[in-house]
Amino acid sequence: MMSKKKILFVCLGNICRSPAAEGIMHKMIKSEGLENQIEVDSAGTMGYHTGEKADPRMRKHASQRGYDLTSLARRFSPNKDFKEFNYIVTMDNQNYEDIISMDYKNEYSTKVLKMSNFYKVHKIDEVPDPYYSGSEGFEKVLDILEDGCKNLLVRIKNELN
Ligand code: 4NP
Repeated sequence: MMSKKKILFVCLGNICRSPAAEGIMHKMIKSEGLENQIEVDSAGTMGYHTGEKADPRMRKHASQRGYDLTSLARRFSPNKDFKEFNYIVTMDNQNYEDIISMDYKNEYSTKVLKMSNFYKVHKIDEVPDPYYSGSEGFEKVLDILEDGCKNLLVRIKNELN
């Protein structure tokens, strides 16, 4: 029996970057027929937007590229998420530090990965927070995430058993 790989994308609010990453990766997984082998979810390090749909600006820009963002925001749960997910992929360096600091026994740090490790085209070392930006910030996030998700999926496919 093949075990499923589970990916959790993490940002601050879980309403802009990580739901977009989830939607992009979900579409890539579907188009490769891998839904039975790879699952995606997203969470935020902060719970302020819990229960909300993705930011309307992010939903608009994502839908223009064919991504339907349906997830509802939730806060990262150290008690459940470290065990449940195989890949915990953070958007910026603060998200990475925050998640690492919740793993106080240092049991799960090999699962925690920075999205920037997977870009091929983009050069900056984070997925920048678009919350206070204009449209260009949201477009940039989507460009970066399409680049990163594509290469992350290549890695995960190599690790399917
Ligand atoms: P996200 O963006 O971390 O990509 O979901 C943000 C969403 C909300 C806030 C900041 C960033 N906020 O301060 O409420």
